[in-house]
Amino acid sequence: MNGVEDSTRYCFIAEWFDPQAALVRQYQLFFYPRDCSIEIFDLKTRRSFLKKTKYETIKGSEYFVGNVINVYSRQMTLKEYGDEFTRKALGTSQETTFAIIKPDAIRFKGDILQAIYRDGFKVTQIQMCHLTKEQASAFYAEHNGKPFFNDLVSFMTSGCCIALELMRPNAVMRWRDLLGPTNTAQAQATAPNSIRARFGTDQTRNACHGSDSQESAQRELEFFFPKDARKKGPGNTARLSGDTTLAIVKPQAVKDDQLGDIVKDIDSAGLQITAIKSFNLEKSDAEEFLEVYKGVVSEYGDMVVEMSSGTCVAIEVEAPQGDPAKFRAFVGPADPEIAKHLRPQTLRAKYGKSKVQNAVHCTDLVDDAPLEVEYFFRILSQ
Ligand code: RTP
Ligand code: MG
Repeated sequence: MNGVEDSTRYCFIAEWFDPQAALVRQYQLFFYPRDCSIEIFDLKTRRSFLKKTKYETIKGSEYFVGNVINVYSRQMTLKEYGDEFTRKALGTSQETTFAIIKPDAIRFKGDILQAIYRDGFKVTQIQMCHLTKEQASAFYAEHNGKPFFNDLVSFMTSGCCIALELMRPNAVMRWRDLLGPTNTAQAQATAPNSIRARFGTDQTRNACHGSDSQESAQRELEFFFPKDARKKGPGNTARLSGDTTLAIVKPQAVKDDQLGDIVKDIDSAGLQITAIKSFNLEKSDAEEFLEVYKGVVSEYGDMVVEMSSGTCVAIEVEAPQGDPAKFRAFVGPADPEIAKHLRPQTLRAKYGKSKVQNAVHCTDLVDDAPLEVEYFFRILSQ
């Protein structure tokens, strides 16, 4: 949204779940890029809900359909474009595609996520899965009967994969370009910087999948990330076995494109990631999850706001030598300033901005680790 005219005004239809009334309220939300101000009307009461106000905590790049924004601690989902002008101006500037990091490249997930961000994509949904034979066959139904089909299905079910929704202008084409040719050897010969050239193995084990058209992208996204909450996509891979602990890449770090760097650091330290899944927390979820800090940590209220201010990514990690405290030491002191002085190699020293925006949450009390893992990967995932 650069070079906008002074009078530019974008309009969205936004929804907010009002927990008091237990109903979804609909709004017309205007965004004025010139001074980053917003204005909100309640569509039912036809009254002003928020007068035109400068609101710089939400960046211009966050205004796109499907995104969840946090307006004064209310989590609003941008459901649709509110007028033709906005649809024309923004509708083609953001596009989504579907990607899979396949089982042969799962150990390169950090590098692949970094490559994704470097090419200007946002990761808007992510989940580690272990496909069943039925799921892999259904996903690749178009190839059923081809000579490589059985090999493809057994490859795709041979280990964990990571499903991704990616967003950027012209996402489908750009992701296919970044992938390179299907056959790894051909990719190495003709597109040496492509993902398949760098991380692929052969003609079937080729590191990543990418949708081949906008229609395929929508169909494949629906398969893995169904919009209707009653429909179920492939489940997550959390072990929930009591020997794991939880890290959450907080919304600020996700917005700042640090997910790939953080995953890469966890992998490089020899730590075992056993599950990954993105969430958009309601404020009430964040309050419940962070309850142990209430009345204990003065930043509790701000921590709740941060945790529910956009997409966060939960990561289940095997506790090193069975001890969640060892993972906590790797994440570092809660205050990034202290971390920078005392533990400069820790995640919070490297990626944190402040005590509240400290890039990564991790389980504090050893006994809470199984509960925190369960909260995200079982309770919130139902
Ligand atoms: P993808 O769907 O995974 O993004 O790959 P693609 O469009 O480049 O290739 P496609 O023709 O759709 O094939 C789907 C996947 O099947 C495996 N394959 N093996 N042995 C072979 O000749 C062969 N051909 C295709 C690859 O894993 C390919 O990505
Ligand atoms: Mg294909």
